This record gives sequence, C-alpha cells and structure tokens, in this order.
Amino acid sequence: MREKIDLAVFPVAGFGTRFLPATKASPKEMLPIVDKPLIQYAVEEAYAAGIRTMIFVTGRNKWSITEHFDIAYELENELRVRGKAEFLQVVEGVKPRDMQVVFIRQELALGLGHAVLCASPVVGERAFAVLLADDLLVCEQKPVLKQMVEVFEAQQQAVLGVMEVPREQTQRYGIITAGAQINQRLCTVQAVVEKPAPNVAPSTQAVIGRYILPGQVMQILQHTPEGTGGEIQLTDAIAQLIEQQTVLAYRFEGKRYDCGDKLGYLQANVEMGLKHPQLGAQFAQYLQELSR
Ligand code: G1P
Repeated sequence: MREKIDLAVFPVAGFGTRFLPATKASPKEMLPIVDKPLIQYAVEEAYAAGIRTMIFVTGRNKWSITEHFDIAYELENELRVRGKAEFLQVVEGVKPRDMQVVFIRQELALGLGHAVLCASPVVGERAFAVLLADDLLVCEQKPVLKQMVEVFEAQQQAVLGVMEVPREQTQRYGIITAGAQINQRLCTVQAVVEKPAPNVAPSTQAVIGRYILPGQVMQILQHTPEGTGGEIQLTDAIAQLIEQQTVLAYRFEGKRYDCGDKLGYLQANVEMGLKHPQLGAQFAQYLQELSR
C-alpha cells in the first residue's frame, strides 16, 4: 500500500539557551519573525504539505505554544463584537478547522531522538514528518516540506532535507555521505553522522530540520544509545535505518534561515520584513536611509 504523510512532529522542548534572557520564561519557538511566531511558520509549512495532524512534543515553559494553537474564544468574540474582521481572520487562521493538534510532554530533555520517540503513541507505525521550527525555510514556488512529501509519495522511502554548508560549520549538523545520484536534487544516503569536526566530516552536505521518516524509526529509537553530547540523537537512529532500508537526501529548493542563531534570526526578520505585504516598502526605505 502506498503511504501518505498526515502526521508532523514538532520537537519544541528545548531550552533555547542561545536566546536568553528572551527565552527565560517563554519558548524560543514563540519568537516572532516580523509578526508571526517561528512555530507557526513550521506548522503552516506542514499544513501546506497536506498534513492535518500536528504533534507538539513540549516541555516546561511551553504552555504558550498550547495556547497559541487553541481557540481563543474571548479574543475572537471581542474582535467580532468590535468589528475587527481582519484581525479575527488572522487569529482564526492560526488553527484551520480541519487541523488537529496533539500535545505530548517530554519529561526529560534527553535529545532530539528522544523527543521524536515521545510522539510514538500517536504516530504508531505510520510514516511521519519532523520539522524543527528553528530552521525557517522559505520557498515561494513550493513550500519545502511539500517538495519532500512529493518525493516520499513517489519513492516511498525516507527523505532528509539537505543543503551545502561551509566546511567550518559541519560541527553544527548531521552530515551525510551521498550514495547513488537519482536526479539533480535527489540521492541515496550511504551514511550520516552527527556533528562531525570539519577535518573528519565525510562531506559538507548537512541535514536541515526537515525529515520524512518511516514508522520503523520509532522501533530503532527505543534502543538508540546516547550519542554526541550525551543525547539520544535522531541522526544515530537514521544511521541504523540506512542498514535496513533506502534513505534519500533531497537538496531542497528555497532559502534557509538558522533562527536558532541570533544572526540568522535577525537576517530572517530583515528579509521577511522586506517581503511583508504592508510593511515591505516602508521598511526598505528605512534600511536604505540607515545604510547611507
Ligand atoms: C539538529 C540535528 C542535526 C541537524 C540540525 C538541523 O541539531 O541533531 O542533525 O543537522 O538539527 O538544524 P540541533 O540544531 O538541534 O543541535
């Protein structure tokens, strides 16, 4: 039977240490890019890929994510009474009626692999997507996860989103060894290793926070030992999956902003600000004046 992807897992339990003090009491996933929190960009990307069940793996201090994707009855009512139709539409649009949200608590921060495993009671044996909201991926033609879902639906094999990174940055990413080239954007993955030092990294092709994985990965994760940084790594489970079945690497079309990093976060705000339908022109003029 050909599988479709209807589940997305969002690991959102991290501490966000790099953004302290902003993340002392509120989650990094709620940091806005212009006027929309990072997590909403990721959810919208999954929705645009046809996914309707969003599974958030949360931890302490993450209640605002739950609130964000809940119906805000009082707010909506207030906006309706005051005739603020435009804002009402914005608020209602956060959670379309055909979208389901599930919240799972990751009690201990044992790593990305562990966070994904926490979603297993909901995922079961089905294939699913994983989106890391830190990685903001923008593609005007076709959202990146949709590109990857199309690859999965055609090939029925795991798909990792990858991009070329500078060699001095390999230590920040899962790095793949490419196998057979299938087309310009697609190849098989021979091996993948978490955060190798530049001098030992097998390539400069990095896994970016978008994955489409088969249900089998959950079984592997149950037995995956601690890896890099003493954490249970998703990368290690994928490395094992490669021994059982074909895993593909897809060089996605679009631009990536590393919003887990202050500079990347600022760049995303500037570029999304310039593209903003109401603000764009005025903001461009401001930047011009500033750089004079
Ligand atoms: C995680 C993954 C890593 C991947 C990266 C993409 O690392 O463990 O393999 O390349 O996301 O952003 P993190 O950024 O959580 O340290």
